[in-house]
Amino acid sequence: MKVLVTGGAGYIGSHTCVLLLEAGHTVTVIDNLCNSSAIALARVQELAGRPLRFLQGDIRSRTDLSGAFEGGVDAVIHFAALKAVGESCDEPLRYFDTNIGGTIALMQAMETAGVSKLVFSSSATVYGQPDSVPVNEGAPLRVTNPYGRTKLVMEQLIQDWCAARPELSAVLLRYFNPVGAHPSGRIGEDPRGEPNNLMPCVAQVAVGHRSHLRVFGDDYATPDGTGIRDYLHVMDLAQAHLKALEYVGLHNGCEIFNLGAGHGHSVIELVRAFESASGRNIPMEIMKRRSGDVAELTADPSHANVRLGWSAERDLSMACADAWRWQKANPLGFTPDPE
Ligand code: NAD
Ligand code: UFG
Repeated sequence: MKVLVTGGAGYIGSHTCVLLLEAGHTVTVIDNLCNSSAIALARVQELAGRPLRFLQGDIRSRTDLSGAFEGGVDAVIHFAALKAVGESCDEPLRYFDTNIGGTIALMQAMETAGVSKLVFSSSATVYGQPDSVPVNEGAPLRVTNPYGRTKLVMEQLIQDWCAARPELSAVLLRYFNPVGAHPSGRIGEDPRGEPNNLMPCVAQVAVGHRSHLRVFGDDYATPDGTGIRDYLHVMDLAQAHLKALEYVGLHNGCEIFNLGAGHGHSVIELVRAFESASGRNIPMEIMKRRSGDVAELTADPSHANVRLGWSAERDLSMACADAWRWQKANPLGFTPDPE
């Protein structure tokens, strides 16, 4: 297939591009590099041993998008978005513009180009505070911040578009907590500024960039008191996108899938797994709870297991080992390789 990948230079997009190229697809990436580096795409091509087409451009620009659709596109995988919860509370309009405005522009460009297949990155954030875990796709949707609202609105816009155009086929993938890196250690998560998520913070302590990990609360109703999340290896997540591409090739309409391992780990369990993988000590300081956090959020991924034929195969210790390989070899993130 000829696949257009928006946000393909980013964390999840770059890992997915490796697998797309390895599977023989023709890949075009459009990314404005606002949260990523072109070095990631050079390494994607090196890992896959095949080239992709890269357009540095913005999904909100009609001109940039029409360039991306030149040469024909069979399906779109739409990763491009802003994703920091705290930032979305401070700058909601920027989030509405990029995430919602960008998605509308993309759907318009798809319609103009006659492209009918879409795989969309949604998030477990749409469940907010769930009544019970694990959550399935039918659980109530309750967003708690502007970022989450953009994901929910984008899901609804895509559903409405599919309802109006029976020839369309879309898959909405609700990711739980992506972690880890490509096993080569050549690509991985490279957060700009201070990371928000747990594993990059832990990795930065292990490599010596930070003195300790701040643990946000140890008084939750969980066995060790720290928050439990469903950590999913980014290579498993990337693999799910290939399954989703197959799925949109075979079905019309709009389908939603949770993507998670189906079980959770606490903050302390993740820290212990990272210590084993890295051989480094991770000092911790217990802080008060982070506002908006829930005690436990895990996926019921059975719909994806059955209908996509996908399930997570890599465990937390592999994710820690791969994240550590990436972090150790690239302590400053993506920097040019020495000649
Ligand atoms: P990322 O920031 O690494 O990747 C997003 C990419 O989109 C970046 O390369 C960025 O430069 C690009 N981009 C942003 N705005 C753009 C624009 N206007 N035009 C073109 N490119 C633009 O993030 P990621 O972790 O790879 O996330 C990918 C997708 O998955 C996002 O939609 C995110 O909301 C979603 N998601 C991520 C997580 C997570 O924990 N990483 C969890 C759930 C959902
Ligand atoms: N945590 C710490 N210390 C840190 C960072 C996180 O103790 O420095 C804890 C959190 O309190 C939570 C757990 O580690 O218990 C996981 O936190 P993350 O920030 O890694 O992940 P979240 O589950 O809070 O959020 C992630 C994405 C969101 C997405 C959400 C939905 O970052 O964008 O999953 O599943 F909306």
